[in-house]
Amino acid sequence: EEQITTKCIGKKVVYFNEVDSTNVIAKQLGKTPGYHGTLVLAEQQNAGRGRLGRKWSTSKGDGIWMTLILQPQIRIEHASMLTLVTALAVNQGIRKVTGLNSFIKWPNDIVMNGKKVCGILTEMSTINEKLECIVIGIGINANRDSFPDELKNTATSLKLESKKEIDRVSLIASVMKYFEMYYEMFKKEENLKEHVKDYNEMLINRNRQVKIVGNDSEYIGLALGINETGALLVQTDETIRGERKTVIKTVMSGEVSVRGV
Ligand code: ATP
Ligand code: BTN
Repeated sequence: EEQITTKCIGKKVVYFNEVDSTNVIAKQLGKTPGYHGTLVLAEQQNAGRGRLGRKWSTSKGDGIWMTLILQPQIRIEHASMLTLVTALAVNQGIRKVTGLNSFIKWPNDIVMNGKKVCGILTEMSTINEKLECIVIGIGINANRDSFPDELKNTATSLKLESKKEIDRVSLIASVMKYFEMYYEMFKKEENLKEHVKDYNEMLINRNRQVKIVGNDSEYIGLALGINETGALLVQTDETIRGERKTVIKTVMSGEVSVRGV
């Protein structure tokens, strides 16, 4: 069993049997100084949350439902990049511990064999337009044996994929270690310059046709990879004043949903 060997990230753990959402607890704790790096863990969530107000399904005792609290001195508009830093860390941790190939689905999912094994939800709390804390919720379907009908075709667990029980402590320790490393790199310039290559190598969408679905538009294009701000670059054809042109769109996370075609 691997232990936590980081300097700061995940050194302190607040452990619950049952909560509504570890993100909610983390946001509460993060209001008090001194919680930077603290990890909130729960065996079960009664109201797990996904992006855009969606529900996150959890089962008791066999998943990894956790939220990392950060109290960083970074610009608010850079916070969403931490979702990508986290995806990189979780993906590496999963690969290290299971020996299987997982991939990142931009911006916040980890997938295996086309199904989602992990989702990441970054939220922040501000006070007078100043950042109080950033919380990064990570949900990993670790040893789950089954899913409700509506998730059967889109969700999987590490156990279902590897046919082995995985050691949750080792995986958490590994994710914390990778996160600390990638986070240090991010903090230097508050961009993803040093992560772009690694992230793009793990990007399931890369060099594939994707459909970008926004609030009031959708189009199909070729996903090229992310840039140093974490945006997805998508090559597509547009008709500008009657002329067909190939353009590269910069897709920011948050405003769109990416589908495979
Ligand atoms: P997109 O990112 O393309 O908008 P998404 O399905 O990845 O779509 P998210 O908001 O990132 O959307 O994730 C929430 C979704 O994840 C839920 O709507 C549900 O379909 C799915 N989901 C919920 N619980 C789980 C789980 N335990 N494992 C895998 N998937 C889940
Ligand atoms: C998503 O894919 O939309 C993100 C899902 C994030 C789920 C995790 S589980 C731990 C933390 N607590 C929550 O309520 N959500 C996140």
